[in-house]
Amino acid sequence: MTKGNTVLIGMQWGDEGKGKIIDILAADVDYVVRYQGGNNAGHTVVIGDTQYVLHLIPSGILHPGKICIIGNGVVVDPWAILQEMNELTSRGIKIEGSLYISENAHLIMPYHKLLDIAKEEHRGTVKLGTTHRGIGPAYTDKIGRVGIKMVDLFDEEVFSEKLKRNVLEKNFLLEKMYGREGVKEEEIKKQYLEYAKLLKNFVADTSVMLNEAISAKKIILFEGAQGTMLDVDFGTYPYVTASNPISGGACTGAGVGPTVIDKVIGVVKAYTTRVGTGPFPTELEPELNEKLRLKGKEYGATTGRPRRCGWFDAVAVRYAVNINGAGNLAVTKLDVLDEADIIKICTGYKYNGKVFANFPSNIRIVEKCEPIYEDIEGWMEPTSHIRKYDELPEKTKKYLNKLEELVGAKISIISVGPKREQTIFLDK
Ligand code: GDP
Ligand code: IMO
Ligand code: MG
Repeated sequence: MTKGNTVLIGMQWGDEGKGKIIDILAADVDYVVRYQGGNNAGHTVVIGDTQYVLHLIPSGILHPGKICIIGNGVVVDPWAILQEMNELTSRGIKIEGSLYISENAHLIMPYHKLLDIAKEEHRGTVKLGTTHRGIGPAYTDKIGRVGIKMVDLFDEEVFSEKLKRNVLEKNFLLEKMYGREGVKEEEIKKQYLEYAKLLKNFVADTSVMLNEAISAKKIILFEGAQGTMLDVDFGTYPYVTASNPISGGACTGAGVGPTVIDKVIGVVKAYTTRVGTGPFPTELEPELNEKLRLKGKEYGATTGRPRRCGWFDAVAVRYAVNINGAGNLAVTKLDVLDEADIIKICTGYKYNGKVFANFPSNIRIVEKCEPIYEDIEGWMEPTSHIRKYDELPEKTKKYLNKLEELVGAKISIISVGPKREQTIFLDK
């Protein structure tokens, strides 16, 4: 199914169903690699009647024998990863020998989480709606060149010095700027040196590992988190996450060259959702929004927050296809539209009398534009039992063909339910 090294990315605002598709593709690869983000992600995999939600550990971990890597581009909260490792172990999943974390990955520290919350509160009416996991402040420190890396945990002198400087600065911010209690340096030091002991066997130079694997003709699957419209460069800035979920991020976040990437698959929901604040041109009015949320069980896998729902936005996905170089698409949650009599697709944005066929960089236009819709007749029959493309209702095929035509990429996977087997493969 997966020929060559593949990057799999979200094409909308996250939660497209990447976890399910990664789990399917992982069967045919040797390595699965997370390259950005942190435990703000929530990737759901359903195997039989059992559901797993992965936050930091690549979704490939559920396949015995696969090597799972957390690359240098990921920000790692040691407390969160140890929790996730323990939970998976208690559910019978083997972690030892399967999971490796990059020495160069930056650490999420307790003050990052406190600053994430404090900054959000301070933003007043223009909150970003972050996951409060400390992601933004951890990347801020990385770019600001004061971050603490995984490798620093194993050199007490370096760790202590970096921690001291950070605590001084962060306590000033927490106490003087945000009127909160600061953190205690000694407590953090003790706690993190304990984490170091528990994580030691899992930390490695993962870029070397990956490049050796590539030389040995092993197959790699890069697991994007979040989505293109949450990308810090190309998303709806500032209502974005603090990393580059786009396919280009796979190289910088894993330490491999662009020449090793053979294929990019974009995951899209058959409609759109967004969790957190920020512009969302095709967002539905409250009644229909709620209907789609209930049918699609649209509640955050990480925070449990209700997701905002809307129609498929072909302007945003066409933009994502280009930025990611995504030749293939996996369309998920098609079954959620089974009962809709009319399905709308947004083909352009209208603002100040002008029509935008391309995604505008100016956030004001995205906030204020009026979507231009094309109506498609719904198929009004169940699809979740279907396993072959030819057996899909004609109206469903018409909808899918329209999506392909509008966004300029080929659909190669269709998902009609959360389970592994509820999947249709197209080898056109
Ligand atoms: P991710 O962050 O992109 O991995 O997506 P999430 O796991 O946050 O959210 C996707 C949700 O949709 C999960 O609850 C999945 O189990 C579920 N899901 C995935 N594919 C399908 C599908 O084709 N149909 C339905 N009904 N649910 C799906
Ligand atoms: P997966 O990988 C959906 C959103 C947050 C918020 C914004 C910034 O499961 O698709 P952050 O905590 O990253 O600083 O929050 O990004 N967000 C996600 N939305 N799916 C995700 O991950 C997300 N990760 C972050 O809701 O709007
Ligand atoms: Mg998710």
